[in-house]
Amino acid sequence: MSLFQWIELQEHGDDRGQLVALEIGHEKNVPFEIKRIYYIYNTESGVSRGYHAHKELKQVAICVSGSCRMVLDNGKARESVLMSSPSKGLLIESMMWREMHDFSSDCVLLVLASEHFSEADYIRNYDDFLRQANYA
Ligand code: TYD
Repeated sequence: MSLFQWIELQEHGDDRGQLVALEIGHEKNVPFEIKRIYYIYNTESGVSRGYHAHKELKQVAICVSGSCRMVLDNGKARESVLMSSPSKGLLIESMMWREMHDFSSDCVLLVLASEHFSEADYIRNYDDFLRQANYA
């Protein structure tokens, strides 16, 4: 099974353009209460971000403009995909190492998060992540 769990977001398109709505709930498109929203933009050329996992946090990432390459790693498998669709949400579960590369200059990566910001929830060392992922 792929590490990439996509949430198809319905596009409400008409002759004016497109609109996507994010709604919380079981039958809706975001499977957790959103406590925080942030976005990554104006990323300098050649910069990579991420390089961490979260112990508890769940996130949905949506590339609302431009493109970037997302790498996910659960400690056993590592996969990479180009994100470029504003109508696809990527569900990132807890205990998933993530890296983001190859940001286009117009990339805006919107992230919905299940918890408030907490540095204590981060695992920023890959070897620590592997230990916790494989021997938890
Ligand atoms: P960080 O998570 O390290 O960025 P990335 O993993 O995308 O490279 O966050 C960068 C900085 O922003 C760091 O100092 C923590 C701060 N930050 C917040 O204050 N609140 C947030 O919600 C996030 C995601 C980061």
